[in-house]
Amino acid sequence: MTPDGKKIVFSGVQPTGNITLGNYLGAIRNWGAMQDEYQCIFSVVDLHSITVAQQPAELRKHTMELLALYLACGIDPEKSIVFLQSHVHAHAELAWVLDTIAYIGELNRMTQFKDKSRKHQDNINMGLMNYPVLMASDILLYQTDVVPVGKDQKQHLELARTLAERFNNRYSPTFVVPEPYIAKQGAKIMSLQNPSAKMSKSDENENASIFLTDDVATVARKFKRAVTDSDTQVRYSLSEKPAVSNLLTIYSLCTGKTIAQCEKEFDGLGYGVFKEKLAQAVSDLLKPIQEKQALLLKDKAYLEKVLKEGAEKANYLANKTLQKVYKKVGFVPPIR
Ligand code: TRP
Repeated sequence: MTPDGKKIVFSGVQPTGNITLGNYLGAIRNWGAMQDEYQCIFSVVDLHSITVAQQPAELRKHTMELLALYLACGIDPEKSIVFLQSHVHAHAELAWVLDTIAYIGELNRMTQFKDKSRKHQDNINMGLMNYPVLMASDILLYQTDVVPVGKDQKQHLELARTLAERFNNRYSPTFVVPEPYIAKQGAKIMSLQNPSAKMSKSDENENASIFLTDDVATVARKFKRAVTDSDTQVRYSLSEKPAVSNLLTIYSLCTGKTIAQCEKEFDGLGYGVFKEKLAQAVSDLLKPIQEKQALLLKDKAYLEKVLKEGAEKANYLANKTLQKVYKKVGFVPPIR
């Protein structure tokens, strides 16, 4: 809670490659709408990115692109705190302290750790295993009340809650125990090639995901190739028609129409017409964001100002919590 009674929201996205339509509809878009009711803190979580091998120049580029994307999607640095995780040293420092109360067994059980270990067998590094502890540190440093995340991050949030409670019990009340905030619809957009897998930026099949940078022709091509279900009806049924249901969800989220309205619109029209309209709706949504992002990326001075001010505000809040933590665990304060 802030002094004026607003709940604190924290969330972040990794600057690794292409942001998908799923990331946008499931997360970033909802953030914009939360800014008035909550004190929002949005981070580009670059420390998390290096748990998987990155090209340094690419990482730098993607970081600035993601920052510009946040702003292009309506995140307002006058209302919210926007910053790069690596600009606030307290994230790594608190992660170290939390490491000492996190058990290897509970980290070893994390679904994402197991998945990523399978995918990157040549680089199962300690950072990959530690990833959820760093994420807990992100959240707990700001005394966060609410964390908007996709379903796939729920287990990590659960760990953040466990670590907060464990620390509070072992020492004394220090951290707010955060609650998840999972948007009812659009929290999970599925792959266009396989409706039982999440739309992911690391999918090897490039037709599986719509990226926020895709142009009109690419969007049209990807939807044309999107898998559908047997029969030709545009109808929502997760059990019988998971692929078409996913497409309907996307159409509904892009147009603001209800699922029932969307079904009615394409009643008797078949998949061809539906996919064309869908591609158009998605492109209409993406185009203004892409234009804004491109403009912002040209304004380096402005982006740097946002980063500088964001880091100042974030550092102030984070250091307050870290000092408390250091005191509780018994570290002698620095002599000033
Ligand atoms: N792990 C999150 C993801 O991949 C990103 C993330 C890092 C995050 N730190 C966070 C999300 C803190 C919410 C809060 O989606």
